[in-house]
Amino acid sequence: MSAPTATAATPDLVTVNIDGRDIAVPRGTNVVEAARLLGVNVPHYCYHPKLPVVGNCRMCLVEMGVPAVDRETRQPVIDPATGRQKINWMPKLQIGCGTNATPGLHIRTATPAVRQARESVTEFLLVNHPLDCPICDQAGECDLQEQAIAYGRGRSRYIEDKNVKPKHTQLGPRVMLDDERCILCSRCIRFTKEIAKDDVLGFIDRGSHSTLTCYPGKQLANNYSLNTVDICPVGALTSTDFRFKMRVWFLKQTNSIDTESSAGANTVVWSREGQIYRITPRRNDEVNDTWMPDSGRLLYKQVRAENRLTTETPLAELIAQAKSLLTGAVAPGSSGMGDSPMGSGGMADPAMRTGAAAPSTDESSVPHNPHGRVARATQSIALVASARSTMAEQYLCKKIADQLGIPAGSIHVPAHLGQGDGLLVSADRTPNTRGALLCGLATGLPKQQLTQLAADIDAGKIKTLLVINEDLAEAGITSEQLAKVSIIYLGTHANATSAAAKVVIPTQTVFEKDSSFVNQQFRLQRSKAAIPGHPGTHNDLVVLSHILVGLGGHDFAGSPIAAWSRLSEETPELAGLDYLTIPETGRVLDSTRFAHLAFPETEGLHYKPAAERQEESGARMQESEARP
Ligand code: SF4
Ligand code: FES
Repeated sequence: MSAPTATAATPDLVTVNIDGRDIAVPRGTNVVEAARLLGVNVPHYCYHPKLPVVGNCRMCLVEMGVPAVDRETRQPVIDPATGRQKINWMPKLQIGCGTNATPGLHIRTATPAVRQARESVTEFLLVNHPLDCPICDQAGECDLQEQAIAYGRGRSRYIEDKNVKPKHTQLGPRVMLDDERCILCSRCIRFTKEIAKDDVLGFIDRGSHSTLTCYPGKQLANNYSLNTVDICPVGALTSTDFRFKMRVWFLKQTNSIDTESSAGANTVVWSREGQIYRITPRRNDEVNDTWMPDSGRLLYKQVRAENRLTTETPLAELIAQAKSLLTGAVAPGSSGMGDSPMGSGGMADPAMRTGAAAPSTDESSVPHNPHGRVARATQSIALVASARSTMAEQYLCKKIADQLGIPAGSIHVPAHLGQGDGLLVSADRTPNTRGALLCGLATGLPKQQLTQLAADIDAGKIKTLLVINEDLAEAGITSEQLAKVSIIYLGTHANATSAAAKVVIPTQTVFEKDSSFVNQQFRLQRSKAAIPGHPGTHNDLVVLSHILVGLGGHDFAGSPIAAWSRLSEETPELAGLDYLTIPETGRVLDSTRFAHLAFPETEGLHYKPAAERQEESGARMQESEARP
C-alpha cells in the first residue's frame, strides 16, 4: 500500500486504495461511493444510496484485496519485490455496493476480470430486455442503455425468442409498469417497503419468468409512488402524467422547492419553451434525501389551471386603483403617505395631500416607519398576508403595512393546517410561516380562522382589505362580510375573495418567479424561476414595489435582490446573507427568537419538533453523566 494520506489519522476516516490511488473516506462508506469520491465510476443497478443494500444485480463486481498479516505473529507481511505490505487478493470478484471501506482495503475496478464480469451481467440483463429504446420513455436517462454502451459487449449472441411479460400494467393511479423492461433490481420494492412504509410490491415466479407485481388486491397508490419511477434504472416504471409527453433531453432543468408544505423538499422543474412537463426531487441529504411527494409534482398544473387569474388592464392602472382604495381608506389628515412617484391619481381624498383637518392623534401609540415618518394608525385598513408568499414578498407586505400605519392587530396571516405524513408533507401546508415571523409580518403563529378580522368587519372598524393570495372564505369570513369591505386582491387563482374584490391584480406562481422560503427546520432555501410569467399576470414583487412606492415608501424596483439586501440588514438571523448567496442546499437560520412557539409540525424526514429534540438531548446528557 502506498503512503497513507494525511487525513488517514482522523479517527472517523479510513484509507482505502482504489486503482492504485489512496483515498481517506468516512468509516462505513461502501466501495461504490468511495470510488465515486475519486471520480471512478463503479456501474450499478440495484444499489441506491438511500435504500438498503441487497446486492442482487452483480453489476458492481470489483477485485478486492486486504493487507496480508502473518497468522502467527499478526505482523504485516512485506512483499520483497516492492518493500510494501503484501496484498492478498480475493480469488473471486466481490460486490462493491455490499462492501464497506476498511483500513487498507485495495480495490481494482478496471482489470480484465472486472470488465468481463460487467459484460456478462449486461448480456444476461439484455437477454429478455426488449429492444424498444427508440420508443421507450426512459431514453436519455436509462442506466441500462448507458451502461450497455459503456460496459457491454456491443453485440448479442442471443438468437432465441425473448420472454413475453405483461406490458402497460397500471400499478396505481400514477405509475405504469412495463414488465418486459424490468431488470429485477428491487429498488421499487425496497422503496415502498422501507421508505413509504406501504408494502405493496413484490416479485412472483422464478428465474427469467420473475415478474414485478402488486400484491393481490393492492395498488401502488401512496403519495410517494412516483419515487419508484425516479429510481427505476430502466423504463419499466413510468409516470402516467409524463410518459410520452416529451424527450428529457429537450427539457431545461431549474432548481426549485416543493411549496405544498413547510417540509420544503428540494425539486427540479423540467420545462421547455415556457411549459412545465414534470417535477422531480433534487437530492438534499438534510431535507428530503432523494424523495418528494406525488402531490408536490402536480403543483405545476396550477400554472395553466382554468381558474388562473389574468388581466389585460395595464399594471399602472391597477396600481392606481389599488392606491385609490388604500389611500381613500386612510383617515383624512393622515400624513402616513408621501407623494407617489406614479403620480397622485390614487390620492382620492384631497385631505390626504393637504394634511388638512388632521384629527389629533397620540403619536406614541402608532408605529414609526423606517423612513422616519410617522404613519398614523387609521384602524380602517387590514392586511391579509400569506405564509405562501416568498421572503421578499412578505418583507414588502410588512413595509406596506408600516407605510399605511396598519397596526399589528390588523395584519393577519391565515394558517393552512393538515396532518403531517411523517415524511415530506408537514402539518403546516404553507412553505413560509417562518419567513413571515422572521420579517415581522407575523408576530405569532398563524390562525386558521380570522375571527378578529370578521368581528372588526362586522363592527365597521375595517373598511378596506389588502389581501395577498389568500381566500378569506376559507379563513371563516362570510360572503356578507366580504361584501362590507373594499378588497384589493393580489393572487394567482380565482376564489371567493377575488370574486368579491374591487381591484384584482393577477400575480405569479412559484414557477414563474425567483423565490426564497424558510422551511420547518428554519432552513432558508431558494427557488428559481423556471418559466416566464403567464400572459396577463404580474410579478408579485413588482406589484408590491409599485404599491409601496405609490404610498411613498422605499423603491425596491421589484427585485428580490434589492429587497433582500434591506431585509438582511434589518433581520439579525439573515445578517450577511443575500439572495444570490443562499446555498443550493439551503442555510439553517438561528431560530432562538421563536423557541417559545409551538409550531404544528410533527416528526418527519430529517425533522424533529423542538420539544422532542430537547428531550433527546436531555436523555443523552443524562446518559453521559451516568457513565463512569
Ligand atoms: S420495476 Fe424498475 S425499480 Fe422495480 S425492480 Fe424492475 S427495474 Fe427495478
Ligand atoms: S449494485 Fe451491487 S449488486 Fe447491484
